[in-house]
Amino acid sequence: MKRIGLLTSGGDAPGMNAAIRAVVRSGIYFGMEVFGVERGYAGLIEDCVIPMEMRSVSNIVQLGGTKLRSARCLEMLTKEGKQQAVKTLEKYGIEGLVVIGGDGSFRGARALTEEFGVPTIGIPATIDNDIEYTDYALGFDTAVNTCLDIINKLRDTMTSHERISVVEVMGRHCGDIALYSGIASGAEIIVVPEIAFDMGEIIEKINASRANGKHSNIIVVAEGAMSADQFAKQLQASTTYDVRPTCIGHVQRGGSPTMADRMLAAQFGNKAVRLLNEGIGNRAVGIRNNKIIEMDIIEAVSMKKTFNYELYETLQMISM
Ligand code: F6P
Repeated sequence: MKRIGLLTSGGDAPGMNAAIRAVVRSGIYFGMEVFGVERGYAGLIEDCVIPMEMRSVSNIVQLGGTKLRSARCLEMLTKEGKQQAVKTLEKYGIEGLVVIGGDGSFRGARALTEEFGVPTIGIPATIDNDIEYTDYALGFDTAVNTCLDIINKLRDTMTSHERISVVEVMGRHCGDIALYSGIASGAEIIVVPEIAFDMGEIIEKINASRANGKHSNIIVVAEGAMSADQFAKQLQASTTYDVRPTCIGHVQRGGSPTMADRMLAAQFGNKAVRLLNEGIGNRAVGIRNNKIIEMDIIEAVSMKKTFNYELYETLQMISM
């Protein structure tokens, strides 16, 4: 393969820039011409294609966001949209496409592969970490660390005033951000979309912790389960302790990627281009049990995300 393209799509994730750099530099290493598509699939449909050189990716490894910008593109679900996207690829002679994004973005890649025979490679990037085949997606580690920083600060003020903090983190269908930031911050309770919660039990747990000498409580709620505002209102109606809601929001999507995300980005980006260089497409790269893996992109997209109940139990056993 002599000409490859890459795009970032869907919600941005810290580490996308580091992955762009790895793809471009690996492509140049193999003597390929690399084209960046701006604004995800929307840019592919609208012909926003730029040549990427060695220096186009200088000084971006440490930056959050995505240099190529991103979009959620409904047009890519239509026949006309997909045909237009393929026309753009043909115009530039792009023989293989690297798609950096979440499961929605992978579905676009799958369509290009299945319906038009375009070799694609998916690099998982979503702070939600809701892609089953890979243990981690780019951006998740940074997002959790950002949440931890904020929860640490909340704990200071909550303890001074003996309050309960209800912290809302992202995760529409997947409670991983809540689970990991809950365990790592020492939160007493997490509320996730995968498990129904019982307010009575939560209040019992808070009362028991106070009886055991605790001066404050942290409850991490995933947005897909309930908003912090709503949860705090319900809780406040049944407790005399002072409750304060905080929504972390898009702050957790930005910021400089952690070492873990930069290392993943380097390895995912490099692996994606190694595959294309061998003429292999239609794969998704990921990490499983600390090893970089690849699998069929169609199979990868079809896998249903499972929740780690053992980790959930761990939190319940050690947080009180
Ligand atoms: O997909 C990542 C994510 O950050 C979700 O956690 C969140 O629900 C959603 O994107 C927010 O999307 P937007 O930035 O388009 O409002």
